[in-house]
Amino acid sequence: MTESAPSPYIDTTRPHPARMYDWFLGGKDNYPVDEEMGRKVLAIEPNVPVLARMNREFMRRATRWLASQGVRQFLDIGTGIPTSPNLHQVAQGVAPDARIVYCDNDPIVLAHAEALLRSHPEGSVDYVQADVRDSAAIVERASKSLDFSKPVALSLIALLHFVGDGNRVGDGNSAAGEAGAHEIVSGLVDLLAPGSYLVLSHVTADFQPEKAEQVGSLYQSGTASLHPRPRAEFVRFFDGLEFVEPGIVSEGEWHPELGEAVPGEENVVKAGYSAVARKP
Ligand SMILES: C[S@@+](CC[C@H](N)C(=O)[O-])C[C@H]1O[C@@H](n2cnc3c(N)ncnc32)[C@H](O)[C@@H]1O
Repeated sequence: MTESAPSPYIDTTRPHPARMYDWFLGGKDNYPVDEEMGRKVLAIEPNVPVLARMNREFMRRATRWLASQGVRQFLDIGTGIPTSPNLHQVAQGVAPDARIVYCDNDPIVLAHAEALLRSHPEGSVDYVQADVRDSAAIVERASKSLDFSKPVALSLIALLHFVGDGNRVGDGNSAAGEAGAHEIVSGLVDLLAPGSYLVLSHVTADFQPEKAEQVGSLYQSGTASLHPRPRAEFVRFFDGLEFVEPGIVSEGEWHPELGEAVPGEENVVKAGYSAVARKP
């Protein structure tokens, strides 16, 4: 089932994060404008495709771990263009009755959602077309298949660096008076039952500040500007939550035993933070 706005309009004149990410992952659901920008990013940091695969692998490891802990409900916001195995395939591979709701604001993700998001008959997969800033509406629509009185794993993987701090005019992504990334996350976490989990990965400039700044400047011409955050700002997303071992780590370091190593990962310089935490 897909809950959505009608007939998505796909803007091929400006690069979009979902399509660039698809291009970095070697996918076919992108346009020349995305590839052109992707190539400019690679000229600054050639390891982005490896980092993207490592991020995707983090999603799979975290999902596998959560399902093995008994989590049966997943809300994934900023899903991206389907890239097999997707979150629902990993979760239902462990627990066929797992219920998943995906959400993204990019119409190209919606365009691929119905064709690719196929549930195991014992579980369910739904899709909500929405912006993470409309968090109350997302939860309301997700409630058609998820029971928010029971634990839910909320994942915002490689999403929040596309959301500004709010209340700043002209930061590219946030209008004046709009909620910032931290406010959005705490609002979502407030709606979750005890025993729920928050799963995040996020780009940082902590390890390579110059490259991050150059890449950030490039993204200004796209549809979503980039907001790398320092470790302390990443930690703040988890206020009131309890980190799962190993706490905050970088790509590839979160329970590597739960997945495959990504070829080339031993040569990359860290570029982000990942963590999973539980709501007590
Ligand atoms: C880098 S991709 C990550 C995809 C997937 N979560 C993963 O890690 O493999 C970021 C995704 O976030 C989506 N996104 C960006 N800003 C968003 C927003 N404000 N609301 C909802 N989705 C957003 C993009 O369309 C894109 O699909």
